[in-house]
Amino acid sequence: MSNGIPFLDLITPHVELEHELTGVFRQVLHTAGFIGGPMVDEFESAFAAFCGTNHSIAVSSGTDALRFAIMACGVQPGDAVLTVPHTFIATTEAISQAGALPEFIDIDERTYNMSVDQLQQFLEEQCTRGKGKLISRRSGRPVTAVLPVHLYGQMADMDSILRLAGQYGLTVIEDACQAHGAEYFSKRLNRWMKAGSMGRAAAFSFYPGKNLGACGEAGAVTTNDSVLADKIKMLRDHGQAKKYYHDIEGYNGRLDAIQAGLLHAKLAHLAKWNTKRRERAAEYNRLLANNEAVTAPYEPSWSRAVYHLYVIRSNDRKGMMNHLKEAGIGTGIHYPIPLHLQKAYASLNYCPGDFPAAELVAAEIVSLPMFPQLTADQQARVAEEILAFTSMARKQAAGEDRAPASAKQTA
Ligand SMILES: Cc1ncc(COP(=O)(O)O)c(C=O)c1O
Repeated sequence: MSNGIPFLDLITPHVELEHELTGVFRQVLHTAGFIGGPMVDEFESAFAAFCGTNHSIAVSSGTDALRFAIMACGVQPGDAVLTVPHTFIATTEAISQAGALPEFIDIDERTYNMSVDQLQQFLEEQCTRGKGKLISRRSGRPVTAVLPVHLYGQMADMDSILRLAGQYGLTVIEDACQAHGAEYFSKRLNRWMKAGSMGRAAAFSFYPGKNLGACGEAGAVTTNDSVLADKIKMLRDHGQAKKYYHDIEGYNGRLDAIQAGLLHAKLAHLAKWNTKRRERAAEYNRLLANNEAVTAPYEPSWSRAVYHLYVIRSNDRKGMMNHLKEAGIGTGIHYPIPLHLQKAYASLNYCPGDFPAAELVAAEIVSLPMFPQLTADQQARVAEEILAFTSMARKQAAGEDRAPASAKQTA
């Protein structure tokens, strides 16, 4: 597989930045400031500036960022939080870890993000008012928050979600773990807004493969609310604002100084890397435009996606992935089983058919190689192999159609 094309190349960007990154290590070793301190503070300020928010609070993972954001926003144990079934399980793990219950809203079949129509329908038809609260008929729980996920690097339709949330008194928390630098044109505000700057709080993951990745585990919460920021700082640090004065029970969710320094060094390159991802996505779109057997990603006019993943759809996903594997091309599925059908959520009593768009999409999606250093030649090869596979599949199907009825019956 010497001329293979990896699904993701994490080595090249780190080798390119070797000098800067080892400098961070050296600095931390020489100061022994391993936890917290100026490197964390400086990264937090820089990331908040990047997102266009007043605050960013660095924590130890995206899952912690989500959990702390949910808790700090006042979601109570026993509440229901609305989110999508088509996401990574960390989204719902964080809801459950905060003591709340995830309830699902189907996705939009084109954007793969929360369907505003489905959200509206749920709020209008599947909720009642009781003691001043909005109660889900399905779970009997008070619905207090909505948690849209900006999947694959494209933001959910935030104006519409915020409008509905405002009407029903819900807090909006963004799962921006895949969307560092993604933008949304807010008609209400008449300007482009960055992921993480529109909800009451937002969570980011810096897992190594993300658009901005640490060399280990890391995450951050962004918010414009300074009271919320202070709460999250306490939650990440054993409930203390002053050493050994614990106002609440918290967690050990702090970020190491080394990771903050590495992230800060890489942040300087993020806008350029995101631009390259957008260029690579445009090139894939061009190469695949005439191939009717695949569906390319849909980017509405109000979105500037940052293509954490480039996801196509095929009605013979298995065949296509096998073909690409044999050609030395890496692919992935994000994600094969919607959360409402996972064993972990059997107790929620959802059934196949409950979220048709999420189920259809999960059965057809394939993620193609996508990273800033992907070359035009590599992309041309990926597209050629996809074309070779779809032409072969078309010929096979036509051959089967032409086969005499008796042959078909005995086949
Ligand atoms: C959509 C989404 N939410 C949450 C997370 C959790 O982030 P982490 O792995 O940093 O805990 C991830 C990361 O994989 C993610 O993709």
